[in-house]
Amino acid sequence: MPTSLPRNGRIFVSGHRGLVGSAIVRQLIQAGFSQILTATRSEMDLCDPAAVEAWFAENRPEYVLHVAGKVGGIHANATYPADFMVENLLIHATVLRSAWKHKVKKLLYLGSSCIYPRDCPQPIREEYLLTGPLESTNEAYALAKITGLKSCTYYRQQHGCNFISAMPTNLYGPNDNFDLEGSHVLPALVRKFHEAKLANNKQVSIWGTGKPMRELMHVDDLAAACVFLLENYEDALPINVGTGEDVTIAELAEIVRDAVYPQAELVFDTSKPDGTPRKLLDVSRIHALGWKHQIPLRDGVQSAYDWFVENYPSEASRV
Ligand SMILES: NC(=O)c1ccc[n+]([C@@H]2O[C@H](COP(=O)([O-])OP(=O)(O)OC[C@H]3O[C@@H](n4cnc5c(N)ncnc54)[C@H](OP(=O)(O)O)[C@@H]3O)[C@@H](O)[C@H]2O)c1
Repeated sequence: MPTSLPRNGRIFVSGHRGLVGSAIVRQLIQAGFSQILTATRSEMDLCDPAAVEAWFAENRPEYVLHVAGKVGGIHANATYPADFMVENLLIHATVLRSAWKHKVKKLLYLGSSCIYPRDCPQPIREEYLLTGPLESTNEAYALAKITGLKSCTYYRQQHGCNFISAMPTNLYGPNDNFDLEGSHVLPALVRKFHEAKLANNKQVSIWGTGKPMRELMHVDDLAAACVFLLENYEDALPINVGTGEDVTIAELAEIVRDAVYPQAELVFDTSKPDGTPRKLLDVSRIHALGWKHQIPLRDGVQSAYDWFVENYPSEASRV
């Protein structure tokens, strides 16, 4: 049953400085919400139960978009698995418990497409969660996030809490992480082409064969979906949020090249691993509810590059 959220409702967005949280805050402002609550890590460390409990008691949020998490690429996940496991466990345990205790009216928790089993049939349907072994490189992160999804279900079962969860695909956009060590495929490509342009280096090396397929969605589309789900989704089952369309890494690299450095030539380094051949979400359930993404990949990549140039001035001018 769709419910319109009151525009003066007290809405807490966790992780508001990150890629997803900052997009959600922009979306809420645009949609006319007047009481958006945020807290920096120094104001409330989400790993600290006492700090979270005190903040909820003082600020009494009515709605929660719980998007904070410890997020990173393959290298970071493989190097710091204990941190990825424990911090993500704490980040949802503290917030969900305080949300229940303080009678939050509705909470949305974000999982991720990368926590589905490694060898899922494609496109990935929601019910495939926990049906096979996880990708070993991000197992710690995936296990922690899965307990977050399950915790939402258990709070629903045991306490009648209106906690829902969503599974976003790979995201990109403003406030993305462009540091080469921790970044995902798209920001890494943007930076690579940009650095090649500054160095006047015509050849740009792409890891692997370029054949694996990936689905990417602009974070502003995800933010719109989150508000839509808060108003229109009531089910215990997590719901996929993606475009339902994928491109090869080679096609993606060409789109980035066209936006950043059209003169560049792509060289595929086949000595490097390809990773998972395909990862595409089945988005038929969210489409059936009436939501569809709006931002075409080419437009989104161009705007992400414009943001990078404006916000990484030291990188942009480095030769
Ligand atoms: N990025 C993707 O492609 C993607 C795809 C699917 C799902 N997701 C999900 O979306 C959510 C957000 O991801 P993101 O890409 O926006 O990550 P992000 O850019 O790294 O932002 C994470 C946010 O969480 C905050 N945070 C982390 N640990 C905290 C702590 N202990 N106390 C307080 N705040 C803390 C960070 O605060 P600081 O600013 O202080 O670091 C930051 O604001 C995650 O749950 C992730 O699983 C992301």
